[in-house]
Amino acid sequence: MIAGRAGATTATGVAHGLGIEPAPCAVEEFPDGELRPRVGSMIGDDVYVVAPTGPPTSSAVVELLLLLDACRRSGAARVSAVVPYFAYARQDRRGSAGEALGARVIADVLEAAGAQRVLVVDPHTTALEAMFSVPVETVTAVPTLLDAVAGDLATQSVVVAPDLGAAKLAQRVGSRLSIGVAVVRKTRTSGRTVEATEVVGDVADRAVLLVDDMVSTGATLETATRVVLAHGARPDVSVLATHGLFVGDALARLDALPLRRVVVADTVPVTVDRSWISVRSIAPVLAEAISRLHGAVRT
Ligand code: R5P
Repeated sequence: MIAGRAGATTATGVAHGLGIEPAPCAVEEFPDGELRPRVGSMIGDDVYVVAPTGPPTSSAVVELLLLLDACRRSGAARVSAVVPYFAYARQDRRGSAGEALGARVIADVLEAAGAQRVLVVDPHTTALEAMFSVPVETVTAVPTLLDAVAGDLATQSVVVAPDLGAAKLAQRVGSRLSIGVAVVRKTRTSGRTVEATEVVGDVADRAVLLVDDMVSTGATLETATRVVLAHGARPDVSVLATHGLFVGDALARLDALPLRRVVVADTVPVTVDRSWISVRSIAPVLAEAISRLHGAVRT
């Protein structure tokens, strides 16, 4: 196993879970931003490259591509891309004429660079698998995140999906916790702004557990929170989201909300510091998945 710079902590945790040591790997960055990775000999090895593609997204993608290529050229028998946070998965279809199909482009270049298998955590879309011709394995952080909130759930809570895309996740969490579900109708107006006014389901006088795959600028959570509060929800909001990107104005937006806590996994390194942010390790889930995949190679 080797790790890109953003995947180092996760890889150490995964390697620990597997009882191995990560292999040496260095990524040098030139003053112009160009990257040059270097790995050791990998002749005949089944190699797992751990590299989330979180912000800065474009350079993280390039770093992953170069690492895959370096492993392939160093003799690896098989190279798997372990991408805890898979960027561009929101571009799984063209919203309007003239756009690119971003998820497909990233899938193509990962394969071209040498990925023979891909392991991702809670991708934004289940359509991601269909973008690749190599096998894609998906694991989830949701049970890990739920463990963190289950013991501290306010009485009379409701699970809220902040948009239609999160409705299935909200259903899963609602049945797991045996509580009701509501869905906010959201429209994205730009990369940084969203609008919503409607809630389907009863949130009046209930504490709120918002669930989503990711927190990026916080616009979705902010808007959903304001809408449920306007519909009578208690100012007691918890958030469960796999990927905590916290970019742009996210912290200022979220600081202004009545948050009990925001629980995220470490699928990208969480460098921001707030008392209401709680981070859970995804390493045990990845270690279990890799152990299964590696076993499948040997049999
Ligand atoms: C969108 O469909 C996703 O599931 C998230 O709701 C969204 O990407 C979060 O982004 P932001 O925090 O910028 O609203």
